[in-house]
Amino acid sequence: MNETRAPERILLVEDDPSLRHIMDEVLSAQGYDVRTAPDAAQALEVLQRESVDLVITDLRMPGMGGEALLAQVRTAFPDIPVIGITAFGSPEGAAALTRAGAADYLTKPFRTPALLAAIARVLDDTRERREQAGAHRRFGSHLKDIIGRSRPMLQLFERIGRVAVSPAPVLITGETGTGKELVALALHRASGRNAFVPVNCGAIPPNLLESELFGHARGAFTGADREKAGLFEIAHQGTLFLDEIAEMPLALQPKLLRVLQDGELRRVGDVAPRVVDVRIIAATHRNLAANVRAGTFREDLFFRVNVLRLDVPALRERPADIPLLAERFLERVTTREQRPPMSIAPPALAALVAHPWPGNVRELQNVIERTAIFAEQGEIGVADLPDEIRALTASTPAARDGSNVISGAARRGLSLEELEREYILAVLERAGGNRTRAAELLGIPRRTLYRRLTEYGIIANG
Ligand SMILES: Nc1ncnc2c1ncn2[C@@H]1O[C@H](COP(=O)(O)OP(=O)(O)OP(=O)(O)O)[C@@H](O)[C@H]1O
Ligand SMILES: [Mg+2]
Repeated sequence: MNETRAPERILLVEDDPSLRHIMDEVLSAQGYDVRTAPDAAQALEVLQRESVDLVITDLRMPGMGGEALLAQVRTAFPDIPVIGITAFGSPEGAAALTRAGAADYLTKPFRTPALLAAIARVLDDTRERREQAGAHRRFGSHLKDIIGRSRPMLQLFERIGRVAVSPAPVLITGETGTGKELVALALHRASGRNAFVPVNCGAIPPNLLESELFGHARGAFTGADREKAGLFEIAHQGTLFLDEIAEMPLALQPKLLRVLQDGELRRVGDVAPRVVDVRIIAATHRNLAANVRAGTFREDLFFRVNVLRLDVPALRERPADIPLLAERFLERVTTREQRPPMSIAPPALAALVAHPWPGNVRELQNVIERTAIFAEQGEIGVADLPDEIRALTASTPAARDGSNVISGAARRGLSLEELEREYILAVLERAGGNRTRAAELLGIPRRTLYRRLTEYGIIANG
């Protein structure tokens, strides 16, 4: 164990006093901080009182059994992994355990090295997952709508947290469908400011945009029979989200610059300046610098808007997010359509991971919705996918083991090693980080998966 880390706390639930005692001794000698409980009820008490890193529970116990305890822990403390101990010769018990969410299991009688190895593995797994989830937790619930656990997304979450409270404008860039609007909303929520006022600069006719944004005085133009506050005033002490800012008419840009510089605006047809306190978040899928060069976007405005920059990565740059997104979207459709839950077969998932997704998350969402609606119940297979995605899938047995990722990845210039690494990562994500399940999905022995993970530097050796 690492000396710089606090000892990890293990809760041992075992009704047999002598076994409980021996295991306590063994684990404590290894430097673990051990708590013991003779039954499930007392175990739950410990869990409510203390923070625990791992639960090891016997299955057959008087009162609430180990499986019920496992279910309780999964719901009440989803972050705490559970290792189950089954009696010799009940293989279906072991399978049920894994399905019920046990991180691992041991069969009695077991030897100490097997116990220690299982513990080390599970704690190691969990630590990794916690570190990733930590980025989420650190910045609270504003990120809850953004699905993603890939490294680029975790970096983005950190940046969101860092720039949230600054009053400076933020420019969100990224290809179409990458989730810029979600990022804007998350940023706003994290800022603690009042209202979030979105306006799509490309969707409002240029001649109306000025009075929409800045308001107008009575009689300012034909039809202006009442005075009206603009969105800037409505967003006072809040956030104004200028979506598609590249579409802002050149003629209006000086006026926007003025608000950004002085926090001052004039309603159309009014002379009195008004002071507003508005945080600007702008977004565009275009290259604003190129627009500056082309003369359609003012350079001085560009410098003002481009103070803090968040770049949302394209989906193809974070393939590890694809399985996660696909499954969540699938869950959403089936729930909305009141249909039984569906899953995605590994080869279909591999095809999804291999697709370059020019329309990014929006395209993935559409594909999943369409596919789910037309697919038979149960599982989505390669045959259910739209042509453009299936086209990458060789119609050979290779497709079945996920080799179809190769064609997509080859086009992206990935080496075979990188490709396999990506695929394993994607499957691991799909399995919620559970290596036993990932190995099942990949159809390889757990040992092999473990070796690959080490070889590819996904986990540390040892
Ligand atoms: N990480 C994500 N998690 C969940 N849903 C997402 C994610 N990213 C995008 N979406 C969904 O994908 C769709 C497109 O996202 P959004 O509208 O934010 O994209 P955008 O970057 O603003 O695209 P555009 O440039 O075309 O306006 C939305 O339905 C959004 O909810
Ligand atoms: Mg958008």
